[in-house]
Amino acid sequence: MFLKNNSKVPLDKFINKILYDKNKGYYMNSNPIGSKGDFITSPNISIMFSEMIAIWIISFWEKIGCPKNINIIELGAGNGEMMLQILRTVEKFNKFKSSSNFIIYEKSTYLKKLQKSKIKFENIKWINNLKKISKYPSIFIANEFFDALPIKQFVKKSNNWYEKYIINKSKSLDFFDKKTNKKLIEKLIKEKIPKNQKFIEFSPLANEKLNTITKIIKKNNGGLLIIDYGYNSKKMFNTLQSIKKHKKNNILENIYKADITHLINFNFFKQKIRNLKISSVNLTTQREFLLKMGIWERAEIISKNMPFSKKSDIYFRLKRLIDKKQMGTLFKVLFATNKKNNFNLGF
Ligand SMILES: C[S@@+](CC[C@H](N)C(=O)[O-])C[C@H]1O[C@@H](n2cnc3c(N)ncnc32)[C@H](O)[C@@H]1O
Repeated sequence: MFLKNNSKVPLDKFINKILYDKNKGYYMNSNPIGSKGDFITSPNISIMFSEMIAIWIISFWEKIGCPKNINIIELGAGNGEMMLQILRTVEKFNKFKSSSNFIIYEKSTYLKKLQKSKIKFENIKWINNLKKISKYPSIFIANEFFDALPIKQFVKKSNNWYEKYIINKSKSLDFFDKKTNKKLIEKLIKEKIPKNQKFIEFSPLANEKLNTITKIIKKNNGGLLIIDYGYNSKKMFNTLQSIKKHKKNNILENIYKADITHLINFNFFKQKIRNLKISSVNLTTQREFLLKMGIWERAEIISKNMPFSKKSDIYFRLKRLIDKKQMGTLFKVLFATNKKNNFNLGF
């Protein structure tokens, strides 16, 4: 264990170590995505998901006047499935294809290797620093990226605020509440904490990424499309969870061998983005977005002449993506762009 006896670290540092330690980190050593892994993501459920994203990107490019150069950046590409299917879909749109620079921003060296072996396409590059994107309109796509970033947690008890730490007590891990104060938290999150707020989840890294991305969009035009699980209320909750083999896991067990994640508070994200003076922020559910993008019609077209077993597989997968009891409403889609673009396809 990296924590010495009786030492403690804030929750975000703990998560960062478990997920992204250069040698042992969860994301640094294996591909956790898929039925044989720990969890599955929309692009790995159905190709139609990525097709809808590709069509949305092309429509946005058209709306901003078909610029001769545009960056399409995927944040955290996992096993590369979404980018692969986007590239296959845009194959038929020559003018768009020749105007696009495809970019993957990925931290895991293991997944980067996997992505490179899967995506054989000349006009794609991998970057380690978003600030390198200095010119051309840029469209950022983040499917289940922000939920993989480390968070801090703060809790209010009898009018005092505490930060969640992880402590190693006699070789066993436990949570520990370390006293802090409201002013320090407000300084960090750059928001006033309302009186009735008793719990705060905040990702300094997500905040930093939102800052960088909105700056690029403001300077060069473009947009940010976030698809992730989350909720849309002012009140915050403890949403920290760990997943192993598609089941909930105790966060303090299976260290380096299970995912640690959380739900996105989309209300907070909207507020943060608005504060960064990106004037248009839209939010909808994954269900509404995909249906408005025409995923149902797409399923009808491709399944038309298929035998029953293949047809039912397509609709089974589609249901997973859009059903209200499955990913349909828990997953949300947020789109931030400059107001002048006046683009709201899918919302
Ligand atoms: C939950 S996976 C989602 C993968 C993929 N988008 C999908 O939907 O299948 C999170 C991805 O984000 C990457 N990631 C996490 N933190 C990152 C960071 N700070 N910079 C770049 N990539 C990061 C992970 O390595 C992984 O590829």
